[in-house]
Amino acid sequence: MAHNRVAVVTGGTRGIGRSICEEFQDQDYTIVATYHGSEEQAQRFRDETSIHTWRFDVGDYDVCQKACAEITGTWGPIDILINNAGITRDATIMKMTAKDWDDVIRVNLTSCFNMCKAVFPSMRQRRFGRIINIGSINGQAGQYGQVNYAAAKEGIHGFTKALALEGAKYGITVNAVAPGYVNTEMVRAVPEEVLDKIIAQIPMGRLGRAQDIARAVVFLCDEDADFTTGSTISINGGHHMY
Ligand code: CAA
Repeated sequence: MAHNRVAVVTGGTRGIGRSICEEFQDQDYTIVATYHGSEEQAQRFRDETSIHTWRFDVGDYDVCQKACAEITGTWGPIDILINNAGITRDATIMKMTAKDWDDVIRVNLTSCFNMCKAVFPSMRQRRFGRIINIGSINGQAGQYGQVNYAAAKEGIHGFTKALALEGAKYGITVNAVAPGYVNTEMVRAVPEEVLDKIIAQIPMGRLGRAQDIARAVVFLCDEDADFTTGSTISINGGHHMY
C-alpha cells in the first residue's frame, strides 16, 4: 500500500512515539521522528529503524515554526502530526516547584499549540490533515502527585475538541488517544511499590504495550477515518471507563 503522506511524530524516538513510527513504517508513510533530549537514544533509533529524525524543542514556538518549515522543505508538506512528546515531573503540590509546573505544561500542552500552529495553515490549504494528540488516563481521571501532568493532559483533550471544530470543514481531523499505564521508561520510573498498586487496579492485570496505542493512532490517520474527529480513544485495560 503506497502512501505519499508525510507524518511527524514528536518524541518519536522512544516509548509510545517510537512504536507509532514503526507502525507508520509498516504502512509505508514518510516519517520524521522529533526528539530533544537524548542524542544517544536517537542514534540507536536511527540505526535500528532507518527512520528520519529532527532535533528540536517542541516547547519553543519559534523553533517549531522553523523546524516544520525545514521538514516541509526536505520531505514535503506535513499531512499527519502526532503530538506525542511528553514529560513527567511528579510531586505532591507541597513539593512541586513552579519550574516542575511550567516545564510540564510547556512540553506536554503548549507544544500541541506550537506544532499545530506550524502545520495547520498548510493542511487547511491542501484540505487534508490528521492531527492526533496523545492524552492520558491521568488527565481524564487525575493522579496523586501529578497536578501539572493531569492539567496538561486534560488540557490536551479540550484542545483536541476545539481544534476539531476548526478543522472539520477543511478535511482536517483532530483526535486524541488516551493511554493508560503503558510499559515505557516513563511508567517504569514510577516507584515499584506504587506501580504494583496501580497494576492491581487494572482489570486486564497488566501494563499496556506501546503497540496497543500505536495501532489506534494509525487507524485514526487513515484516509477513510475522515468522519472521526474530536474523539478520544481510551486504551487502558479497563482502568478508567466513563
Ligand atoms: N493516593 C493517596 N495517597 C497517596 C497516594 C495515592 N495514590 N500516593 C501517595 N500517597 C500518600 C502516601 O501514602 C503518603 O501519605 P502520608 O504522608 O500520610 O504517609 C504521602 O502521600 C506521601 O507519599 P510519598 O511518600 O510517596 O511522597 P513522595 O513525595 O515521595 O512521592 C509521589 C509522591 C511523587 C506522588 C509518588 O508517590 C509517585 O511517584 N507516585 C506515582 C505517580 C504516578 O502514577 N505517576 C504516573 C507517571 S507515568 C505517566 O504519567 C504516564 C501516563 O500517562 C499514565
